[in-house]
Amino acid sequence: MFPSLLVFVLFLLYSEIKAVPSKPVKVEKNIDDFHLNLYKNVVALKSNDNVFISPYSVGLALASVTAGARGKTEKELLNLLHSKSREKLTQSSKQLMAITNMSEIKLANRLYVDITFPILPSYTKQLQKTYNFTLASVNLNPQNKTRVIDQINQWVSNQTNNYIKEVLSKDSLDVKDPNEANALLIINCLFFDGKWESEFEAQNTVAGYSFYPDVGPPQEKKLTLMMRNGLFPYADMSSTIGAQMIHVPFQNKDFTFTIILPNKDIKLAQVESRLTPAIFNTPTTNQMAVLSIPKWKFEFENDMKDVLSKKMKISELFNRTKANLKELSLKKPIYVSNVIHKTYVIVDEKGVRAAAASVVRMISQGSPPIKIYFRCDKPFLYAIRYKQTILFIGRYVKVIDTSNMPPIIDGGYGR
Ligand SMILES: *[C@@H]1O[C@H](CO)[C@@H](O)[C@H](O)[C@H]1NC(C)=O
Ligand SMILES: *[C@@H]1O[C@H](CO)[C@@H](O)[C@H](O)[C@H]1NC(C)=O
Ligand SMILES: *[C@@H]1O[C@H](CO)[C@@H](O)[C@H](O)[C@H]1NC(C)=O
Ligand SMILES: *[C@@H]1O[C@H](CO)[C@@H](O)[C@H](O)[C@H]1NC(C)=O
Ligand SMILES: *[C@@H]1O[C@H](CO)[C@@H](O)[C@H](O)[C@H]1NC(C)=O
Repeated sequence: MFPSLLVFVLFLLYSEIKAVPSKPVKVEKNIDDFHLNLYKNVVALKSNDNVFISPYSVGLALASVTAGARGKTEKELLNLLHSKSREKLTQSSKQLMAITNMSEIKLANRLYVDITFPILPSYTKQLQKTYNFTLASVNLNPQNKTRVIDQINQWVSNQTNNYIKEVLSKDSLDVKDPNEANALLIINCLFFDGKWESEFEAQNTVAGYSFYPDVGPPQEKKLTLMMRNGLFPYADMSSTIGAQMIHVPFQNKDFTFTIILPNKDIKLAQVESRLTPAIFNTPTTNQMAVLSIPKWKFEFENDMKDVLSKKMKISELFNRTKANLKELSLKKPIYVSNVIHKTYVIVDEKGVRAAAASVVRMISQGSPPIKIYFRCDKPFLYAIRYKQTILFIGRYVKVIDTSNMPPIIDGGYGR
């Protein structure tokens, strides 16, 4: 078991922590509200479990969906993300994306579109422009899906430094209704690798402490704690939320590891219910402290569709007949079937590594069965024409070795 008494929050660049010298990127405060609301609603469904999510990753994935939505579907999403308009959302997304250039961060967005699905070029352009998406056209509906699933998992694994190896399980592209097919996957990957400003000494890491959960008996002698002394930005918030807060600094002061520890006899759930974005930004003072935090690694997985539909008022997006995604494709129906979210975190003496992947999967009507298979596996003729004029003409009658052609990377041309 892992500690459930502490809230660990990875603060990214957009946080405004007063006592830590930083140059925060100004972001509409209300996106922060979505980030915290998502956390609150996930923990509400997992009352006694460890949780680790990246609201940032889920938010960016949903913002890119919003770019294709209109009508009530769009309104629901804008309300969810606390954005007044799609222009405002685009603007704040761009600001959120600004963390890309930090060396601690690896951020990647990719759109996998089924080869038969007619996606609107205006939509893909916008994804490229605002969110720096790369595009991949693949067969998302082959008889045997192993290969395409492996290909996507490989990409996500690569983007997350191999921390998230199987974002898609073997059955995650299965389609129940024979008239339906996978249309596209919108994927966001986020990887963070931060080193503590001061490392914890390995010799001060000691196993065998007891942990005192809010529910149930103590977990005797199970906990491993790392320890160090130092000056830390600290706030006593006993009078407001019944907890204390400390910011553990990374080498790069723009990032902070914030810990909120409930006071004695106060349950974490009580503190969580009072959390607001402003609480994380409570002014701190630098205090000498002996810091003891667990060493751990933890993997988490959740289909965010549950939380979004049951608790956060997103209904049209997941509804086959109601979803309005007409800026994404003119084909109907098109709707979201899952929002897969996987994360991983390691906290140790050197620092924190954390990874997240969010996959928004969209389903559409299946394409009519393909009747024509045009496979050039025997000699053929080819020509390059301008209107009716043949500019070039040739034949391909025996295999030409292509082993020394460079691979084509993300839309470039091999030479
Ligand atoms: C990242 O980009 C922002 C502007 O977009 C710039 O102000 C900042 O210095 C950059 N940071 C690094 C580490 O390059
Ligand atoms: C856009 O994405 C590509 C591929 O993931 C990456 O190499 C590039 O640095 C990104 N550009 C920006 C501005 O983030
Ligand atoms: C699907 O393809 C993979 C390799 O791409 C293969 O290993 C597997 O046996 C195939 N499964 C079925 C059911 O054909
Ligand atoms: C990701 O892929 C690139 C290119 O194939 C490779 O150079 C890099 O080492 C890979 N990164 C990881 C973490 O596997
Ligand atoms: C979708 O919306 C329709 C019309 O309001 C409703 O009848 C149906 O139950 C909804 N489907 C789901 C899966 O919620």
